[in-house]
Amino acid sequence: MLTATRDFFSLNKLKKIELHTQLSVFKSKESLPLLTRDLMEAAEKAREKAYAPYSNFRVGAALLLDNGEVVTGNNQENAAYPSGLCAERVAVFFAGSQFPNTKILQLVVSARSEKKTLNVPIPPCGACRQSIAEYEIKQNHPIEIFFMGETGQVIKADSIKVLLPLLFDGNSLK
Ligand code: THU
Repeated sequence: MLTATRDFFSLNKLKKIELHTQLSVFKSKESLPLLTRDLMEAAEKAREKAYAPYSNFRVGAALLLDNGEVVTGNNQENAAYPSGLCAERVAVFFAGSQFPNTKILQLVVSARSEKKTLNVPIPPCGACRQSIAEYEIKQNHPIEIFFMGETGQVIKADSIKVLLPLLFDGNSLK
């Protein structure tokens, strides 16, 4: 038993894998490409219609689809907290239900808190990343993701794979 354990460790020498990831940073909303800036403004508008009476943390998401449509969503909270949903998932699920065969090209997110000024970019939560990944893999085309707070810098990820390396997808279920 002791020998077997020793063998296991010597055969499986600790090997480290480095993950490389890259994000782009824009100084502000004003430095975005025009189309993306318009999407950010659509996300801000959607954000203000959020139903967030419990957190007072409003999030808006705007999607640009391959057919030129813009789909927006915002966070929808619930007195039973986990029954609520984030803005990103409201938007991608709506796009998935209304335009099932249309690719999502960009996802743009804006967040605002009533407690303090958010001047740092607010990234999508883990559950939203997993949901976004499902659609990116389904459409076999990267989704560009832009996110910001109420003011300040905007971060861009070229694909959900940048924000969710080692993602779990349906290939494991085949
Ligand atoms: N929220 C989003 O809408 N998107 C995120 O990626 C992070 C969190 C919402 C969920 C909840 O309504 C509030 O923000 C506070 O967590």
